[in-house]
Amino acid sequence: MTATSEPRAQDPAVLRAAMVSELREDTIASEALAGAFSVVPRHLFAPGEPLEMVYDSDTALVTKTSSDGTALSSVSAAHIQAVMLEQAEIEPGMRVLEIGSGGYNAALIAELVGPDGSITSVDIDPEIVARARAFLRAAGYARVRVMQADAEYGVPSHAPYDRIIVTVGAWDIPPAWIDQLSTQGRIVVPLRFAGLTRCVAFDRAETGLVSRSYCLGGFVPMQGEGTFTATRVPIDGDATLRLDGPNPGFDVPALRKAIHGPRIERWSGAAFDLPDELELFVVTSAPQVPFLYASQRLVDQGVFTPAVTFGAAILLEGASFAYRTKRENENTGGWESGVFAYGPHAEAVAERYVELLRRWATEYRRRGTARIDYIPAAASGGTPTGWYAPKRHGVVAVSWP
Ligand SMILES: C[S@@+](CC[C@H](N)C(=O)[O-])C[C@H]1O[C@@H](n2cnc3c(N)ncnc32)[C@H](O)[C@@H]1O
Repeated sequence: MTATSEPRAQDPAVLRAAMVSELREDTIASEALAGAFSVVPRHLFAPGEPLEMVYDSDTALVTKTSSDGTALSSVSAAHIQAVMLEQAEIEPGMRVLEIGSGGYNAALIAELVGPDGSITSVDIDPEIVARARAFLRAAGYARVRVMQADAEYGVPSHAPYDRIIVTVGAWDIPPAWIDQLSTQGRIVVPLRFAGLTRCVAFDRAETGLVSRSYCLGGFVPMQGEGTFTATRVPIDGDATLRLDGPNPGFDVPALRKAIHGPRIERWSGAAFDLPDELELFVVTSAPQVPFLYASQRLVDQGVFTPAVTFGAAILLEGASFAYRTKRENENTGGWESGVFAYGPHAEAVAERYVELLRRWATEYRRRGTARIDYIPAAASGGTPTGWYAPKRHGVVAVSWP
């Protein structure tokens, strides 16, 4: 029996069918999208990779890495491709621009737009462009146009586009993307703001763009004109603050003292769940919420909880700061959120954070409640009243209606 079942498990068609049924369970609702995933041979876009990895819906296949180990290009995980294509709601006959090539996602889009639609894919890297073209041709999708350019300027020669699908991490929305979008168009983009990335589906609004939906997602970083580098402020060899904007002048020696001084813990009584949404709520509650990254050594010493090695959003007041934590709630079987706070004003900053946790739990604990606006610099209407992050070409504003 083993002899006959082994080869079947390695059959790309069998693996693909399994991937599609898994995606149907939690990600894909549209029949057209399920159909596209069912027919495009993903393995032809990642030659040499083990088939089980190619058809594992959560695995991204890195195809190019920089000298410092940063991933520069990949065939994105099927799961996130499915999420973004659901957000895009692509219909037959549409004109689509894909930013960041690889071939596979463009082939899925080609299936969705059909013979009356058009798909242009652009990549900054000539090697990736050549690969994508060759793979698309081999898989029978030669009609996908693959261009080499910095997507900062879009691809004006084939605009306007009904959909612009950005498959690389963006820090801003260049004017060209909005200019090249049709009146009813939609941009789906993994957009970084406040130190976090969310895949946002933006429709046009009076003053620019407004989110229709958003979800969690990470991508390789944008190169070229739109490159973004986060600001890093080392506190000592074991702790670093990271933030999107410039260093506002943190009192590093005082923060170093606070980290190694006593800490207090305070509990909110509020349930802890939907951590991604809670994190978005916290980072958009104050003008600047840096992330603290600590070494394993500080975790081992008990100074921080393990979560801080991956970065914890902190509320700061002078040289005092707090970050959130959780503990099991024996009464409910769920989790309770709380905070650890450090520094001379630990009590005050802990109280502020706990108040936020309570407000989140009572008013906003639903998925997808934030409204994200992109307001181009050219739009009139002044500065937003709520939270916003200045960008090069405009501002990202987040509100919690
Ligand atoms: C995650 S890969 C694209 C994945 C692809 N869409 C797929 O089918 O899975 C991101 C790509 O964006 C490209 N890229 C980065 N910066 C760019 C820019 N400014 N303009 C165009 N492409 C860019 C990279 O070279 C890389 O190939």
